[in-house]
Amino acid sequence: MVSRVIPVDRFDLVIFGATGDLANRKILPGLFRRYCAGQIPEGSTIIGAARSEMTPEEFRDQTRAAIAEFGGNKCDDEGALDGFLPMLDYVAIDAKGDGGWDDLKSKVRDDTVNAFYFSVAPALFGDLAERLHTRGIAGPEARIVVEKPFGRDLASAKALNAALAEYFDETQIYRIDHYLGKETVQNLMAVRFANILFEPLWNSQFVDHVQITVAETVGVGGRGSYYDKSGAMRDMVQNHMMQLLCLIAMEPPYHFDPDAVRDEKLKVIRALQPVQPADIVRGQYAASKDAPGYLEDAEDPESTTESYIAMKCHVANWRWVNTPFYLRTGKRLRARTSEIAITFKEPPHQIFDDAEGEWRENVLVIRLQPNEGMNLKMMIKEPGPGGMRLVQVPLDMSFAEALGDEADITDAYERLIMDVIRGNQTLFMRGDEVEAAWAWTDPIIEGWEARGDKPQTYDSGASGPDDALMLMHRDGRRWREIRE
Ligand SMILES: NC(=O)c1ccc[n+]([C@@H]2O[C@H](COP(=O)([O-])OP(=O)(O)OC[C@H]3O[C@@H](n4cnc5c(N)ncnc54)[C@H](OP(=O)(O)O)[C@@H]3O)[C@@H](O)[C@H]2O)c1
Repeated sequence: MVSRVIPVDRFDLVIFGATGDLANRKILPGLFRRYCAGQIPEGSTIIGAARSEMTPEEFRDQTRAAIAEFGGNKCDDEGALDGFLPMLDYVAIDAKGDGGWDDLKSKVRDDTVNAFYFSVAPALFGDLAERLHTRGIAGPEARIVVEKPFGRDLASAKALNAALAEYFDETQIYRIDHYLGKETVQNLMAVRFANILFEPLWNSQFVDHVQITVAETVGVGGRGSYYDKSGAMRDMVQNHMMQLLCLIAMEPPYHFDPDAVRDEKLKVIRALQPVQPADIVRGQYAASKDAPGYLEDAEDPESTTESYIAMKCHVANWRWVNTPFYLRTGKRLRARTSEIAITFKEPPHQIFDDAEGEWRENVLVIRLQPNEGMNLKMMIKEPGPGGMRLVQVPLDMSFAEALGDEADITDAYERLIMDVIRGNQTLFMRGDEVEAAWAWTDPIIEGWEARGDKPQTYDSGASGPDDALMLMHRDGRRWREIRE
């Protein structure tokens, strides 16, 4: 099967922060891969902007090096680079300064899609928005792309929303949560809403519980003091994990349309109950033989920021009233893996005796990484004579194996940038969604701060603090093993 490339209109994309890590690792290589796929129309331009003085030629050299390092192996044809690099231009601009804006204005054309990617610290969003508007560079059709973190609490998120709303309409603002650009995350919607099979079972009557795991093997060394200001709750739960939870828990939208989808996600966030202190476990990784522990990485021996969090959440609505959602995420865990596991209940009546095999629950596992795909654990009869013995087997689908080229999956950033050019906001967070997520998160963080709770230490390379195991054991459940 060959990937179908849906063309976009000719565009001028300005990347503020074009000399930074995100631009070099994700945005520029992603654009190159889209060029190789034939999706970038002739005559489009990509204009880098940052304070560093550099010529367009130097910016192309920087981009060439970034593509060599992070471009992936999908397009290694030197000829493709010769076609792509001339699309690049560069303007030296300080978001807070006055120089360079006229130059930028002269490069952004009226007859193309105009998009402005703010790949800079959020503190600069307001300055950029104000200058782009007042200098007549970004008109009412222009699109503004902003990165996480979108605030560190409700008040700061509201301030960012207000700073953007002063100059741009909500329909122009694209808040990136790159998890929403992942193929499997979108597949979650396809599985739910394009099949009749699961939706009738997708509720508390049939789903025992849901587990969402995002485990990383790396620590925070190198950016420890930066990470220490946020922690796992702000860095992962408030945005990525909340989005995954929303896609599992939401009602079917009336149409696959940006506001219809986002309205349903918002209802889920608003239905999330406050989390009880007993349902939260926070941890910090300990030093191992060959790597420092969290406190050393954070450069603060007194830090109480969590590098791990596990929690039990409840969505208080008719569909989910008795189904807990267990979330966990952490650094320096046993394996790098992200998955959602939906565990179904027992059949209402067992006709097979215990002696005839071991009954296990049906589990639908949606793997985000590695090896994106799905796995449905089913009970079948053990082959061979000797009576009716049951055994659990996986119905396993790796997207790469099942779909070949089609699953040669575009990186989340590639997909999201093309959606910006297309003007499709479905996979971007709306302002009210982000604020609702912070409104749920803030009291949880304030609670542990007020109580002076300290995170527990967990071994590097393990699966988290002991109390996280207890969080499920006391409910008669257990976490799935963290493994690749
Ligand atoms: N890196 C990631 O993987 C990642 C992932 C998710 C979200 N993000 C978010 O994306 C944003 C960028 O991250 P990053 O990792 O690329 O940061 P970074 O490596 O520190 O780069 C920051 C960029 O901003 C430019 N810049 C700084 N001050 C400026 C100013 N006053 N005017 C114009 N440009 C200015 C810098 O260039 P000059 O010094 O030349 O001006 C540089 O190009 C941040 O908000 C970050 O939280 C990053």
